[in-house]
Amino acid sequence: MKAKADKRHSANPGKITWQPGTVLSPVPAVMVTTVGNEGRPNILTISWAGTICSEPPMLSISVRPERHSFKLLRESGEFVVNIPDRKIVRETDYCGVASGRDHDKFHETGLTMGRSETVKAPIIIECPINIECKVEREIELGSHSLFLARITNVQVSADLVDDKGTLNAEKAAIVGYAHGHYYQLGRQLGHFGFSVKKN
Ligand SMILES: Cc1cc2nc3c(=O)[nH]c(=O)nc-3n(C[C@H](O)[C@H](O)[C@H](O)COP(=O)(O)O)c2cc1C
Repeated sequence: MKAKADKRHSANPGKITWQPGTVLSPVPAVMVTTVGNEGRPNILTISWAGTICSEPPMLSISVRPERHSFKLLRESGEFVVNIPDRKIVRETDYCGVASGRDHDKFHETGLTMGRSETVKAPIIIECPINIECKVEREIELGSHSLFLARITNVQVSADLVDDKGTLNAEKAAIVGYAHGHYYQLGRQLGHFGFSVKKN
């Protein structure tokens, strides 16, 4: 996220104006697994990822063409989004600074490969949520290409799901990213629709 601090005063009291930049936050910090023709799986950390459609279920990831994973994504048209928890935030960061071109990130991080049910790329067992995806469209935007993908299967850690089938995000200690820093998902403040719920 780059936003050059610009000391110009805004028209509004208590505000300063920044140049246009990628300051939307918080964003996820997820590990995207891919495998290309040569068969060695890779892990890429991504924060520019988002849910974009519920029916059919779809998400997007935004990837620079210079990334090794970009080639693997183009070759396979498939990937897995693995959501990390606080215990593996260091590994998550590492997969965002080392390239699969000259590093075996599974070997170096000790993260465990598991089987996907609908794609060739492996899931990361240590991640509480694994989202298997197939690319439907790629849009070149400039510095990044946007991959729009169909969610074909989801695996979650069973011990985090309650009797009602809800995943306890607080217990899962999911990691997010804001302005260059990693955070653990914090205290719950409400639930969907609580503002209009009658006591
Ligand atoms: C927190 C974090 C978020 C990142 N988000 C993105 C992203 O959204 N898109 C991208 O292309 N690179 C992103 N990167 C950079 C890549 O993860 C990094 O260049 C990585 O080493 C590329 O790996 P690869 O060459 O094995 O594919 C991010 C890095 C970090 C640490």
